[in-house]
Amino acid sequence: MSEKTTQLRESFVSALSAVDNMEALEAIRVEYLGKKGLVTELLKDMKNLSPEEKKTFGQAVNVLKEEVTEMVAGKREEIKQAEIERENNLMPEFDISAPANLDRGSYHPITLVQRQCEEIFRSMGFAVEDYSEIVTDYECFEALNIPKNHPARDMQDTYYLENGQLLKSHTSAAQNAIYKKYKDALINESKPIKAIFPGRCFRNEATDACHENTFFQMEGVMVDKNISISNLIFFMKTMLSEVFQKDIKVRLRPGFFPFVEPGFELDISCLICGGEGCASCKHSGWLELCPCGMIHPEVLRAGGIDPEEYTGFAFGLGLTRLAMMKYGVKDIRDLNSGSLKVLSQFTDDK
Ligand code: DAH
Repeated sequence: MSEKTTQLRESFVSALSAVDNMEALEAIRVEYLGKKGLVTELLKDMKNLSPEEKKTFGQAVNVLKEEVTEMVAGKREEIKQAEIERENNLMPEFDISAPANLDRGSYHPITLVQRQCEEIFRSMGFAVEDYSEIVTDYECFEALNIPKNHPARDMQDTYYLENGQLLKSHTSAAQNAIYKKYKDALINESKPIKAIFPGRCFRNEATDACHENTFFQMEGVMVDKNISISNLIFFMKTMLSEVFQKDIKVRLRPGFFPFVEPGFELDISCLICGGEGCASCKHSGWLELCPCGMIHPEVLRAGGIDPEEYTGFAFGLGLTRLAMMKYGVKDIRDLNSGSLKVLSQFTDDK
């Protein structure tokens, strides 16, 4: 009878040697050790044996059972180790104790300035809105009181798509959508509209050190009852003093933009000489920074707001220009150059 156990052990050992995964191991375990497995089946032959033979055979089967169980456990461990090794080989080498890679990318100077402005305006209760770069002619011009064939369009030649839409030439293109989004809360809940919307703008320009076909602006609007130019001056002065970390004087000069009335050019006291007059400010003591004005009644009306009841201000801050002033960038083309040598200089200023 012990021949049978020996044979079964041999057949098990050879079957086990071909096993290399958990599923196959489980199958062979059930085949030998399961309730109706080959080892258990051996015991059925015992009934025809003498008591003496039963004892020896029973012991032999038990020993076999233990051996098979042990071999299954050994194989399971072996497969597990092999799997771990395989996974380790698949993983890229990663050393958790290695020092940080200081050659990683850095924030673009425009991103830095934009985030800073967003933070400041948020703290003054303004919502920060995003808007698409592709807009309709209505949004970019008509809703801003610039009808077809108006000469003001000449200043903002941009790129047109075949379907008549265009790449926005200024962030003012989002004004109409912003008014429509917030007008109900303004009218029904007396919540003033306070929003800024930074964005990329495009113009069909010949590029030089001061002109780019792609640049960034940040538009801001505030609409409520009794909004006046004083509100505009207050918010601009506060924001600019924060950005430049010093008290900034501002002045308004008349400027023409069809979507504001009156319209202004906002100048700031020269950052270099503080207003004394130097080469940077052409000895005037002032730097031109941000066009702005009181929103034109037609523009409010196009946004669904009654200009008899509400007034507001708008400004179009040149973020690209602001970044150039803040970081002393001399050539606007550097900003779109993708040159890490230039752009990575601004990393430490978050
Ligand atoms: N959208 C104008 C431009 O890009 C800038 C501008 C002027 C925006 C006056 C305004 C504004 O909101 O009030 O030339």
